[in-house]
Amino acid sequence: MRLLFLDQTGKSGGAELCLLDIAAGYQNSCLVGLFEDGDFRQRLEQRKIPVQVLAEKAIAVRKSSGAIAGLLSVSKLVPLINRVATLSRQYDAIYANTQKALVVGAIVSSISRRPLIYHLHDILSPAHFSKTNRRLAVLMANRAKLVIANSQASRAAFIEAGGNPELVEVVYNGFEPEQYLAEIDTNELRSLLELQGRFVVGHFSRLSPWKGQHVLIEALQHCDSTVSAIFVGDALFGEQEYVQQLQQQVDRLNLHDRVKFLGFRDDVIPLMKLCDVVAHTSIAAEPFGRVIVESMLCGKPTIAAKAGAAIELIDSGVTGWLTTPNEPKELATAIEHCRQSQTEVSKIATTAQQQARQKFQLTETNAQIQHYLQSILT
Ligand code: UDP
Ligand code: GLC
Repeated sequence: MRLLFLDQTGKSGGAELCLLDIAAGYQNSCLVGLFEDGDFRQRLEQRKIPVQVLAEKAIAVRKSSGAIAGLLSVSKLVPLINRVATLSRQYDAIYANTQKALVVGAIVSSISRRPLIYHLHDILSPAHFSKTNRRLAVLMANRAKLVIANSQASRAAFIEAGGNPELVEVVYNGFEPEQYLAEIDTNELRSLLELQGRFVVGHFSRLSPWKGQHVLIEALQHCDSTVSAIFVGDALFGEQEYVQQLQQQVDRLNLHDRVKFLGFRDDVIPLMKLCDVVAHTSIAAEPFGRVIVESMLCGKPTIAAKAGAAIELIDSGVTGWLTTPNEPKELATAIEHCRQSQTEVSKIATTAQQQARQKFQLTETNAQIQHYLQSILT
């Protein structure tokens, strides 16, 4: 099966890390076309997955863009569409992994008569997208042969926004559990980061207002003074203003000794392993939330914001804890519970690890995708 994958970004967000694992299964017969260059291209090359950067400049459509910005950007899309249309003739199907890739993929699909597949990594709700972008996404996605939603929550929002229910199959992100299971001595890393003797809460997400890093900073005030937070991740999509706001918040609350921003890191697993708890604090519904599963696979107690797919991933009190989004005091209570009841909490983390190993296998994810692709392509 020859697949032309399309993705709008050159940065390694969760949707791209998911694509990396899927495309690896087709590395002898696929091409990943990116609309901008970046470290994601290098990751693909390291895994020996064919990749081409197709657009010279990034396409400037923001999630909140209205109709005019959308139309202006469409005129810039023409050269890109031509290139993708020419390329697509060598492939059996076009597999769009992001929304801008969907728009290009849908247009090209009607020109070159190649079937379109859309991997939906987003929740198409007003909290995440403008009305225009939701309409456009649904209009284009309804032309696909198959929509792969990364969770039931993403599927439900797609249908609510007007998406055709008959097109959608839910496939969770998959992981290689063995990578997370190894015992790692984290003492050195702890001392390097000056975290000895601290109760460490880890937050692993790009810095973005909807990921709610500010909620954890706020919560720290209501936790014991031995609790510190590490923030792993960077502003990937132009959210520098939010980074400044977070730093100002730390200044205002005088939390310098208890908060560390580590930037984007490639060593997420050792960093997770050194944490006592991992917190996920999105204030808008999370479409899937790879970090939630990664934390469970690392055997860490996981607290997540109760919305979107987090509700599918965590059974509160059994495999982790769900707290109301944007409620710092409730989050602080959950962190304090983890700090004070460590024996009970570590049992929950072990149960979560066992369940996650069963439920989020990459081999299973890839088999499901292969099955759905085969059923529409034959
Ligand atoms: N991640 C990473 N380095 C960082 C921060 C995050 O490699 O510094 C990874 C993280 O392990 C996860 C992904 O980025 O696999 C983020 O995916 P998620 O689905 O949690 O959120 P997204 O950013 O895609 O909304
Ligand atoms: C997107 C979503 C995230 C999800 C990832 C992989 O980046 O924001 O929730 O985990 O895609 O599907």
